[in-house]
Amino acid sequence: MLPNAAVINQAAVFTIVLSGLALLAGVYFIRSGNRESHMRAMLSASALATLFLVLYLTRLALGYEKAYAGPAEWKLGYYALLISHIVLAAANLPLAVIPLGYAYKGLKAAGNLANVDSNPVARAAFDAHRKWVRWTVPVWLYVAVTGWVIYLILGRWGEVMPH
Ligand code: HEM
Repeated sequence: MLPNAAVINQAAVFTIVLSGLALLAGVYFIRSGNRESHMRAMLSASALATLFLVLYLTRLALGYEKAYAGPAEWKLGYYALLISHIVLAAANLPLAVIPLGYAYKGLKAAGNLANVDSNPVARAAFDAHRKWVRWTVPVWLYVAVTGWVIYLILGRWGEVMPH
């Protein structure tokens, strides 16, 4: 096993947890009416999630994989968690890209975040943004939390698979 693959794995989990925190900050900012900070936090969350993807794909390319070797009665539960995590992580990509696209369209039409409500094209784009993010935020949080939980489980009960 390559020793640096385990370090890449740790860095990947770190970025996924940070992206979840940036996401929560973004939700907090928009609830407080601070659109500028909301944009910065969400772009940070998206950059961190992209970095996660790069690290994760690097780890896969290095052939670093851990299998569950914990108590047998928890095996089914572990795989249910793992599969839900993988399916929702894949779904999270379009769920993030689509509202980002609407935000870009809205910002371009308005020219400035302060003009969003007075510009009909921008207003429509941000209404669509709101519709999509209703799904994006819970899915993203679920993926971030379960990714970290899976890492902890495999840290305790995982065995590195030979390749
Ligand atoms: C994938 C990244 C993003 C997520 C997950 C996200 C999430 C959210 C959430 C949860 C809301 C509140 C929706 C509601 O009131 O029900 C919102 C609204 C908003 N977001 Fe984002 N956001 C993202 C990226 C951005 C970016 C990059 C911008 C800046 C251009 C932006 C601008 C706005 C604005 C202006 C609103 C208020 C919309 C309104 O007035 O109805 N968002 N977003």
